[in-house]
Amino acid sequence: MLSLPKIVVVVAAAAVVALDFEPHPENMTCSGDVHSTPWVEKIIGVNLGGWLVLEPWITPSLFYQFLGADSEGTAMDTHSFCRVLGPVEGNRQLRKHWETWVTETHISKLASLGINSIRIPIGDWMFEPYGPYRGCTDGALEVVDRVLGWAASRGLKVLLDVHAVRRSANGLDNGGIAMGVKWTSTLQDVASDAITFEHWPRRSARWMGSFDGREGTTAVNWTHVEASIRTLEKIASTYAAHPAVVGLEAVNEPWQFTPLWALKKFYWESYLRVKAIAPSWRFVMHDSFRFDTQVWGGFMAGCPDIALDTHIYQAWFEPSTRDNFYSNACAQKNIIQKMEKAFGPVIVGEWSLATDNCAMWLNGFNDNLPGYPKLPCKLVPCPSPYVIAQPGAPPSILKPLQGPFGTGVSGPQYGLCPVDRDWLKRSPGDELGSSRVRVASDLDAQAKTPDDDDTDEVMRNLGAKKLQAFGTVAHGFFFWNFRTELEDQWSYLRAVDRGWLPADIRNLEDIVGTACDREDVHCRAKRSASDADLRDALGWLGVPLADHQDLRAAADEAFDDYWVAHRQDNENMPAARKAACDFGGSAELTETPYKCVARRVEEKATRDGMVYCVNQDPARVEYFYQLSGEGLYREADVVFDEYWEAHRFAGATCDFGGGATLVLMDPTPEEEEEDEEEELDARDHHRSFFFPRLLAPLGIFAAAAAVATITLARARFLPATRVGVITAALPHERAPFVGTGVPVRPQGAAAAAAI
Ligand SMILES: *[C@@H]1O[C@H](CO)[C@@H](O)[C@H](O)[C@H]1NC(C)=O
Ligand SMILES: *[C@@H]1O[C@H](CO)[C@@H](O)[C@H](O)[C@H]1NC(C)=O
Repeated sequence: MLSLPKIVVVVAAAAVVALDFEPHPENMTCSGDVHSTPWVEKIIGVNLGGWLVLEPWITPSLFYQFLGADSEGTAMDTHSFCRVLGPVEGNRQLRKHWETWVTETHISKLASLGINSIRIPIGDWMFEPYGPYRGCTDGALEVVDRVLGWAASRGLKVLLDVHAVRRSANGLDNGGIAMGVKWTSTLQDVASDAITFEHWPRRSARWMGSFDGREGTTAVNWTHVEASIRTLEKIASTYAAHPAVVGLEAVNEPWQFTPLWALKKFYWESYLRVKAIAPSWRFVMHDSFRFDTQVWGGFMAGCPDIALDTHIYQAWFEPSTRDNFYSNACAQKNIIQKMEKAFGPVIVGEWSLATDNCAMWLNGFNDNLPGYPKLPCKLVPCPSPYVIAQPGAPPSILKPLQGPFGTGVSGPQYGLCPVDRDWLKRSPGDELGSSRVRVASDLDAQAKTPDDDDTDEVMRNLGAKKLQAFGTVAHGFFFWNFRTELEDQWSYLRAVDRGWLPADIRNLEDIVGTACDREDVHCRAKRSASDADLRDALGWLGVPLADHQDLRAAADEAFDDYWVAHRQDNENMPAARKAACDFGGSAELTETPYKCVARRVEEKATRDGMVYCVNQDPARVEYFYQLSGEGLYREADVVFDEYWEAHRFAGATCDFGGGATLVLMDPTPEEEEEDEEEELDARDHHRSFFFPRLLAPLGIFAAAAAVATITLARARFLPATRVGVITAALPHERAPFVGTGVPVRPQGAAAAAAI
């Protein structure tokens, strides 16, 4: 922990409120921050989902009892669970669920795996019960206290996440109530026994006001918003002094139609009022599915202890190759880093290992999104319930798919439940290594043997790459979920049991240090290539260039797509078709490493961070105090980066009390035009500071250097094996463009586009 002096600035507000920074309501920024809670330790966390806010797909056992029910008797979220079962039976079942879903054994186990934080989704009804929650959710606060006690005694930090708010922020079960459900059985022209409903076509969310069905919330009702803020104040007063609780997330996943101006106003007001009660807390804001630097860059700049939460799932992607999932996982780093630079701390508050949408009821009880699942799902026997003697569980092996039926299909049939698909081994003839997710029904059933199953391998790779991506640049992450009843790819505990995620995540370097090496190298247009060369190359590739399109950007993308699909270390590709990153001499391989540099905002913050980095070494501290302005920042660039390089895999953030941020180093500095000052500085230091590490690999490359320029700064991340591979691919040849057979079109980043 940084030990920094704390001063108290008294701001003029309605009431006199003590804040250790100065807010500027006119532009929603702050100044004078004295860093009440320097963020030096990365969050390595899991979510306790499906516990206080129910989601049928996480704990199907609780919802089997509603199969075959009519509109009055069907529950599909916490709200209807309480409405249908009533306060007495509802509360009886919930208490049993609360006790068994999260136990002290789970919390101990998570701590022993190296998890340092947990995010606890909660509902606003726990603090001010309303409607069907009255009585039904009695006792919820006591179980929270119990879990907080277990967390505190093991040093786990807790983020309280207001997952569900009155009138719903997103209209999904995870927001407390599946909003906009219309029972359609009675509307059918043809008489039918089937009980049916519509949710997806009519989903709404009315947390902030009325909703017109198309353009989102049209009339914000501040009475509702104010009620939400009062709940946040109540939460803050209740837990401000709790040793385990380190912060609050104001609202989870407010849907993408939420007006941004209103959401920002809500965040700003809530922040100040929560901070006034719990000054050391972090305040986490979900991006509302708009992880865009244009939206969040500069918002609440200078305000201490804020973080932006983004959720990064691949489960809703189009079916694709494992390589596309891998490169998408690693590419998240660049997206996160841009936001870290534009906004500040980012946490990936939810992610999983799932690569498809098969998890039963993932898109709602007995329902599915239009067009999902994209591929047939695997079926397994529905598990025995985790709650002893749970009514209706497990579902009968004699019954086919039962109603009520939504507009999409997902549910148990004959005692079998749909789950995520297995990955099969790459097969001969599969030149792009595009071995797709398949299930037994895709195959000759006889042909599938355990030897064909490559799920463990794919999940292990994907896990390492995601940990590398989120663990390198973000301020931390929470896996969704700590456990599930049915789905291993969504369960941290099961994923560890199966060897997909590390049994001790404390030292990320050993586990994931090199996990994205392959994905982080890109084939790009040479800065020195002429426009004519680039046009030629695009012509070979058959990539049309629209008038308004930037030639270099188009070439960068086309070269990389092709090279990734055809590169040498693609073991199933015939040699004649393997591609060099060359394209008539107009392309080169590049790697874009990160550097931790000073934000040029406040000298004091910067110096405090530097003092921390050198462990208060008096000689160096004295030197730091002699520096000011750009001189100080340049020294800070070196000090911060040195510290971050040495400690990042042991959980250090590039933050230093808000004094630092990560930048992407440009691989070809000498040809770059004038750029932002801080990036130039970063490169200056890069050249002097990193140069010694470049020598060895450049020696190996010397012979090939005439053909391809390879700019690599993070030399230690380039293992000798890969050096060999790239070298072998270098000879200048145009075979990939004119070679034998029909050139296979690059698959493109279908997965990336789906973000
Ligand atoms: C916000 O307003 C304050 C006070 O008027 C001002 O000092 C500060 O420079 C403004 N910040 C931005 C980013 O405009
Ligand atoms: C805002 O919400 C409150 C409480 O639900 C309601 O009484 C009031 O009429 C609403 N105001 C508007 C303008 O809709």
